[in-house]
Amino acid sequence: MTDLSILSGKTYFIRTFGCQMNLHDSERVSGLLDSLGCLQALDPKDADIVIFMTCCVREAADTRLYGQCSSCKSLPASPSGRRVVAVGGCIAQRDGEGLLTNLDNVDVIFGTHSIAHVGDLLADAFADGDRHVRVEEIDSGAATEMPWHRETAYHAWVPIMTGCNNFCSYCIVPYVRGREKSRPMEEIVDEVTGLVRQGVRSVTLLGQNVNSYGRDHGSAPRFAELLRRVGETGVERIYFTSSHPKDLLPETIDAIAEVPAVMPQLHLAVQSGSSRILKLMNRKYTREQYLDLVDRVRDRIPDIALTTDIIVGFPGETEEDFEQTVTLVDEAKFAQAFTFIYSKRAGTPAAEIDDPTPRSVIQQRFDRLVRHVETTAFDYNQRFLGTTVPMLIEGTSKKNDAVLQGKSPWNQTVHCPVPEGMDARQLIGKILDVRVDAARTWYLSGSSLGDPR
Ligand code: SAM
Ligand code: SF4
Ligand code: F3S
Repeated sequence: MTDLSILSGKTYFIRTFGCQMNLHDSERVSGLLDSLGCLQALDPKDADIVIFMTCCVREAADTRLYGQCSSCKSLPASPSGRRVVAVGGCIAQRDGEGLLTNLDNVDVIFGTHSIAHVGDLLADAFADGDRHVRVEEIDSGAATEMPWHRETAYHAWVPIMTGCNNFCSYCIVPYVRGREKSRPMEEIVDEVTGLVRQGVRSVTLLGQNVNSYGRDHGSAPRFAELLRRVGETGVERIYFTSSHPKDLLPETIDAIAEVPAVMPQLHLAVQSGSSRILKLMNRKYTREQYLDLVDRVRDRIPDIALTTDIIVGFPGETEEDFEQTVTLVDEAKFAQAFTFIYSKRAGTPAAEIDDPTPRSVIQQRFDRLVRHVETTAFDYNQRFLGTTVPMLIEGTSKKNDAVLQGKSPWNQTVHCPVPEGMDARQLIGKILDVRVDAARTWYLSGSSLGDPR
């Protein structure tokens, strides 16, 4: 039995890469370490434990780990005199013990299904000075029962399911996160009810494809029902991500339209506008079906902020295929889009497809696509000019601490000057009405009306 008391009083630092799933896993790891008496450090140099929560969805994220780990070697001695370096997340799950060969200063490796064991692994590393690895194929501990250290008091990431069954041909996620596993509905509703009691006003429900929530429990997907139940908890803002177009049901669109707390925002990753490429990607919908879905959503929720993910340069993408993506962006009028250059991931089916397209051509396509997205995002925001939007205050703008920054119900960034005589720090988590007098591509700005609440 590992003696966890060795961790008491140790300082820890966590750096997180990748998606919200990793962010939430980091919150659970922090919660566990806090419960064992560890103290969070804001800089790796002040930490006895440095943890990297890694991502391998694209090559850029992958290569960063090596630099980060080796930079730990030049840090001054840690407060306790011994520093343990740990690697968790998706690269740890993919490479497991193999990482020890290339990362000679790493002491602990833990996979995505093993975060409940991170305390034991770290304590063992401090106790015996050896290297410890735990990578499993399925969850061996209930991560959702672990304590939870949230970065913000007013918002929480709430995983409703883990894993993915879709195997899009370019994507590594199903290999590092396993198959879909939904949490029981009562557990999620109880968790959100508890969060509301603690003062949380906004939640984001997380899953790689929330639309198939509940399918692994042997029923039809129950995401619409979950939205309605979470809507009864008293939480003021509900967001969710991500939503696979092939599984978005009419009852879910109804729930978004009808449940007041479900915000008018939908992330519906399209990936490509070419039906030929979508087939090669194994996305299971065509361009026409996607655009038809967009029409159905807009019929029901006209002002919805539709956001998306797009990959440029999938192997074999022709100029004609790319043109289809550009016209789809114009037609779907996205409020925002995350655009990525295709990155070959070993072990995925797309990695086997040869691609003669020069990198410079793909870069030109990417730049052109970004310009179209900027236009649709700018156009979307214009409808808010002269309106009043309730901003949930997150803090101040990075560039100017006299300007508050927050989120609108449509998930847009909003800026407004700190009201006279008020302290910005006291306003975090409050909602303030903002009269929009400028609508830019990536944010709205205006002046405050009334009191924060
Ligand atoms: N499950 C989510 C969905 O389907 O909407 C996406 C999760 S993935 C973490 C986020 C985005 O990364 C994907 O939507 C896709 O656009 C992008 N992505 C995944 N694999 C990629 C690859 N090999 N190269 C470039 N982008 C990739
Ligand atoms: Fe990856 Fe596709 Fe699953 Fe999203 S739905 S995580 S893109 S395999
Ligand atoms: Fe990256 Fe893993 Fe998320 S590969 S995008 S951190 S599920």
